[in-house]
Amino acid sequence: MSIVYLNGQFLPRAEAKLSVDERGFFFGDGVYEVTRVVRGRLFEWDRHARRLARGLRELRIDAGLSLDGIGALHERVVAENRMTEGQGTVYLQVTRGAAPRTHHFPPAGTPATVFLSATPFVPPNELRARGVAVVTYPDYRWTRCDLKTVNLLPAVMAKQFATDHGAFEAVFLRDAVVTEGSHTNVFGVIGGEVRTYPNSNYVLPGVTRDVVVELAREMGIPVSETPIYRHEIAQLEECFLSGTTSDVMPVVAIDGAPVGTGKPGAITMRLYEALARRLAAASGTAAPATVVA
Ligand code: PDD
Repeated sequence: MSIVYLNGQFLPRAEAKLSVDERGFFFGDGVYEVTRVVRGRLFEWDRHARRLARGLRELRIDAGLSLDGIGALHERVVAENRMTEGQGTVYLQVTRGAAPRTHHFPPAGTPATVFLSATPFVPPNELRARGVAVVTYPDYRWTRCDLKTVNLLPAVMAKQFATDHGAFEAVFLRDAVVTEGSHTNVFGVIGGEVRTYPNSNYVLPGVTRDVVVELAREMGIPVSETPIYRHEIAQLEECFLSGTTSDVMPVVAIDGAPVGTGKPGAITMRLYEALARRLAAASGTAAPATVVA
């Protein structure tokens, strides 16, 4: 039985109960983070914490806890679930709390709802070796995609469309531009240059995305935060997704057409290996094989 944190208490998951007046339930009025855990250690927590803080500030939600306090809760939920070996993820959700339903904010002093859980995670390495297919889907989302809110209906519809079509991910097209995936950022290689949509209100500033851009720069791989246009999809030499639960995932087909050779690309795999080394280093293990195996 997994142990979760809810509003001040650690308790078995089945015993954690929310009010029907929860604003997350009525309005999707909250933010979340999914943080990777490797051998009991949080990966890139500082970046998650910065993104969380920005989201809370923009939405004017007072979590009632400091960022350090939220970080400590992450560590505690990992420990409570004895996740000292292998890998996992921690899910955090902070909403504006429970109050009678009104669109405007609830009365001052209404405590936020804070929830954390920890789940074992096995990286999808077999899938990575083959690469995945994706389908394009209209980007029906609002124009604050930079905020990691729990309003995920467009992402749910898009991912289900992908699932219905036997694809791993749906890649959003806003007008004629690739923005990101339903739960990943999207990269392409054209003319040897790695490209991804610039951080702006149209995409989530992915933690993995930012690490990958940093790694590419360190490795001397040309990288540009420039959008990929729909008409350039056919010219992609390589394509990959990035995300906490995907790492770097090669894309070998888009809407049924092969990308490049139809196999995971060389630049993609170099970036994946660099990320795997970063994950291993964060866990305090010397050998990346313990992470990538
Ligand atoms: N999703 N873009 C979107 C729309 C996302 O929802 C996510 C993450 C990403 C990748 O961000 P990061 O590298 O920080 O995980 C990009 C999480 C994992 C989820 O919804 O489960």
